[in-house]
Amino acid sequence: MDELVVTGGVRLKGRVRASGAKNAALPIMAAAILAEGPVRLKNVPNLADIRTMTRLLRELGLRVEREPDGDMVLENVDPDKVLAPYKIMKTMRAGICALGPLVARRGRAEVSMPGGCLIGDRPVDLHLKGLRSLGAKLEVKHGYIVTSCKRLKGTEMYLGGPFGSTVTGTANILMAAVLAKGQTVIECAACEPEVQDLGRMLVKMGASIHGIGSPRLVIEGVSRLSGAEHTIIPDRIEAGTYLVAAAATGGDVVVEDARWNDLFALIHMLRQAGAVIEHFDDTIHLVAPKRLRAVDVTTLPFPGFPTDLQAQMMAMLTVADGISVVTEKIYPDRFTHVAELNRMGAAIRKEGNTAIVQGARRLSGAPVMASDLRASAALVIAALVAEGKTTISRIYHLDRGYENLEKKLRKLGATITRVKAKD
Ligand code: EPU
Repeated sequence: MDELVVTGGVRLKGRVRASGAKNAALPIMAAAILAEGPVRLKNVPNLADIRTMTRLLRELGLRVEREPDGDMVLENVDPDKVLAPYKIMKTMRAGICALGPLVARRGRAEVSMPGGCLIGDRPVDLHLKGLRSLGAKLEVKHGYIVTSCKRLKGTEMYLGGPFGSTVTGTANILMAAVLAKGQTVIECAACEPEVQDLGRMLVKMGASIHGIGSPRLVIEGVSRLSGAEHTIIPDRIEAGTYLVAAAATGGDVVVEDARWNDLFALIHMLRQAGAVIEHFDDTIHLVAPKRLRAVDVTTLPFPGFPTDLQAQMMAMLTVADGISVVTEKIYPDRFTHVAELNRMGAAIRKEGNTAIVQGARRLSGAPVMASDLRASAALVIAALVAEGKTTISRIYHLDRGYENLEKKLRKLGATITRVKAKD
């Protein structure tokens, strides 16, 4: 297994480019199930999760190829296949995005319930509720969601849950509703840029969707969708991770392909912490202050502060002056990074879904273990700030969501290498 070895204490400086958004690419790849004709996707990142989705779609009878120029082409070749097996679903929850398209286009689906997840309980009840309201017969049998319907029927539904809107749930129901008979209204739809990108792709395929980017989606069902070409939006979480790393290390960094409006909550928080941030089109320039100030952060659905940047922000706040309160409102248990950060000298106390970060700490390098994707990114940021050497194990989590992380950080001056673990 690979490990990352980081020697901290370097101010990050230079330019870095964000890759395509993993969480936009995954449902958009699944949308190819709906298309009559090939779908061509540009700017799909080269990541473990994308390779897993490729395997799943091939299992579901799609041809999925990467062309030499990096474009991904997907096409239905065997529409009789409707089984999304546990062996794939247990490694990647986003596989659930195949459910809506399968039942809408192929009339049935058998999709394994996704596996457990370190960031907390992640139910799919809203996905199932949405599909049932569209008329799908649905039961959970032997760990599989078994569903069928000749043709889904448009309806009005409220898709909010105890933690607000659902990102992949909205994606799933949207992909089902575009082929349903009649009009569907989704209230409390997720507004995340990744859901917007899926909406734009579906419109290119011939779907009729109003309200993209708002919590009320109105869909007029059509009887068929064609192939289309689409460029995946840049990854706001990856871009945000580099901005936070720059701020934490006292750096001066330009992030290209970073969309200002997609990152506004983070930018607001980083400015409050003292960073100077400017942008020109999709290029964001951050200059860190001499000393960062503490800020209170609460995660919320978009356009609120993203849960996928909470861990990275917390790593930064361990070295800011003052006490910060970080409240997690999407995944109340998403705090696996706290214990590892404390092993590096941070002083973070967790109370329910809140972490109280006593700042101005001097972190010191230590052997630490990555637990989930974003917690791993937080450990990398802490390692960049810490005195001495940090070894981060289990970095396969990072490979699920960050393309060429070490290469990009090295370009910014970081001392970071990937090595094979000794035992
Ligand atoms: N929820 C329910 N019922 C459902 C679905 C969700 O109660 O049927 C709850 C969840 O437990 C959570 C909240 O609603 O408390 C929001 O979950 P959501 O469904 O929005 O999450 P997701 O679609 O499973 C996506 C991203 C996550 C990201 C979340 C929140 C993808 C593939 N995954 O997950 O990304 O954290 O939205 O923004 O898009 C990551 O990239 O590291 C990652 C975990």
